[in-house]
Amino acid sequence: MLNIVLFGPPGAGKGTQSAMLIKKYDLVHLSTGELLRNEICQNTSLGVEAKRFMDAGQLVPDDVVIGMIENKLAVNTNANGFIFDGFPRTEEQAKALDDVLNPMKKPITAMIALDVPHYSLVERLLKRGQIEGRTDDTEEVIDKRITEYESKTRKVARYYEAQNKFYHVDGIGEVDKIFERICHIIDARYAELKQQQKA
Ligand code: AP5
Ligand code: MG
Repeated sequence: MLNIVLFGPPGAGKGTQSAMLIKKYDLVHLSTGELLRNEICQNTSLGVEAKRFMDAGQLVPDDVVIGMIENKLAVNTNANGFIFDGFPRTEEQAKALDDVLNPMKKPITAMIALDVPHYSLVERLLKRGQIEGRTDDTEEVIDKRITEYESKTRKVARYYEAQNKFYHVDGIGEVDKIFERICHIIDARYAELKQQQKA
């Protein structure tokens, strides 16, 4: 079982790389951003509440996103594993995730962070805003999303560092090259865990 947390600021490439990783390793993609945008599309009460925060570039309250992830884990019990994209974003979310996965003996395998400098994030997101029209890809909201990441989310890496599960890769360059870097980490970590199980 592989449970990978793909981590990084807005625009780091989490969604792009997740789409490739789920194919290669036959995993289920769980993106809280995507799940929330689906709720907005369907005009549910959860979506209406979440939209206020997302349009302001702020994190949606923990209980909302934790509940969504718990539901998705409960209906995917036969999965080979998961790619968590954009979750966890607070220490409370990270603890809640461990509280669900650890009793099932399906712990997080690794958190892999994509390192991308600020100017590239802004450039990528403004470009995507023009092409895809995601409503939070405006200069003002991008700025708030990155600030929110720096103040509330970046420190989640320490939670996984403390468990010796934190890795990071250079997130600049061709998409395929970045993918190779991530796969290299996953394969090495998988081999390490297999070795530990044998010992
Ligand atoms: P979410 O949907 O998670 O957005 P995000 O974290 O801001 O990240 P993005 O989806 O914008 O970027 P990405 O890293 O996926 O990059 P991508 O591959 O798309 O969250 C949205 C909102 O929902 C949050 O602000 C918050 O309000 C709420 N939310 C979500 N989860 C939450 C949680 N857990 N707790 C609380 N609130 C939550 O790439 C970006 C662009 O760059 C694309 O156009 C892509 O084609 C391009 N690109 C990718 N790789 C490269 C490359 N190597 N070179 C050049 N361009 C590239
Ligand atoms: Mg994304």
